[in-house]
Amino acid sequence: MFYSAIRKVFFKFDPEAIHELTVKSFKATGATPLNLLYKQNVPNKPVEIMGIKFPNPVGLAAGLDKNGECIKAFEAMGFGFVEVGTVTPRPQPGNEKPRIFRLPEANAIINRMGFNNKGVDYLVDQVIKAKFNGVLGINIGKNKDTPDEDAKDDYIHCMRKVYDHATYITVNISSPNTPGLRSLQYGEALNELLSALKAEQTSLAEQHGKYVPVAVKIAPDLTAEEVSSIAECLIANNIDGVIATNTTLARDKVAHLRFGDEQGGLSGAPVKEQSTKVIQLLATALDNKLPIIGVGGIASGKDAQEKIAAGAKLVQVYTGFIYQGPELVQDIVKSL
Ligand SMILES: Cc1cc2nc3c(=O)[nH]c(=O)nc-3n(C[C@H](O)[C@H](O)[C@H](O)COP(=O)(O)O)c2cc1C
Repeated sequence: MFYSAIRKVFFKFDPEAIHELTVKSFKATGATPLNLLYKQNVPNKPVEIMGIKFPNPVGLAAGLDKNGECIKAFEAMGFGFVEVGTVTPRPQPGNEKPRIFRLPEANAIINRMGFNNKGVDYLVDQVIKAKFNGVLGINIGKNKDTPDEDAKDDYIHCMRKVYDHATYITVNISSPNTPGLRSLQYGEALNELLSALKAEQTSLAEQHGKYVPVAVKIAPDLTAEEVSSIAECLIANNIDGVIATNTTLARDKVAHLRFGDEQGGLSGAPVKEQSTKVIQLLATALDNKLPIIGVGGIASGKDAQEKIAAGAKLVQVYTGFIYQGPELVQDIVKSL
């Protein structure tokens, strides 16, 4: 009720301007008594995967808190885990604005942000300042101007920087807004990347005396064969988890709507079935050898239950949260 009134006002303004304002206010209030404005009690529903104990199975998906500035605010809202990033080695501005579009008739968003972020050093600084005791995922990517053949170096650079500060690390190879990134999902390119990251993780684990799990985030725009070869490669390289899915390039469900033909990744209700399908295919191919975190179009407890029935152990939300606010977290946790 409270959020739906706020949303009416928010939705009158430019989406990115509102996003920036919200991030600023969460950053300013997250660790203060003012967090009572959005703080809520969420029941304990512990889940253990990747050797990590999650207090509840509902997480914040990557891309909302790209620089790790609002971790305490999302903790107050009752998220069982918070994934910050995508972060790149060097700061970069991202694509030209406008680059976020609301499609309210479809409960959807199209974005082509292009990994706008303040760089990994800034993010690590924020994480240290937050002194967060909960489960923190740090999602890493490559800079736009890093040649595709050097992508691995960017991931390794970020992995080294965040290793000591993350509960798990997500390797994002599925954003549609960084040219060439999604090609890392296929064949030998994927195998080379994952084996290099596994070797780095092994050496970092020894160096730091602790093992930080690595999850890979994949796209919804994959054929059944592509999903099963990704699954094989994840198993072969002993990757710890998989996050399915990122935004879609498909437009069939929104082509008729205002902004429906904007370039970028589509999220929210229109990606829901496609992402559930990928989770089902993954679950079959992985045969419980590694856990799946389900994300894509979750806007209710029922949507989350569908992801879990398809094979996910945890879920994440982004677009549903924009449309419904913090209460969505509580609703989903209660329903599971
Ligand atoms: C504006 C926006 C920015 C995003 N940025 C990122 C990002 O930086 N890294 C990433 O892995 N996913 C990013 N995502 C994808 C979400 O994390 C999520 O995988 C996707 O939106 C599907 O979930 P949803 O339907 O609940 O939004 C972004 C999504 C949106 C809408």
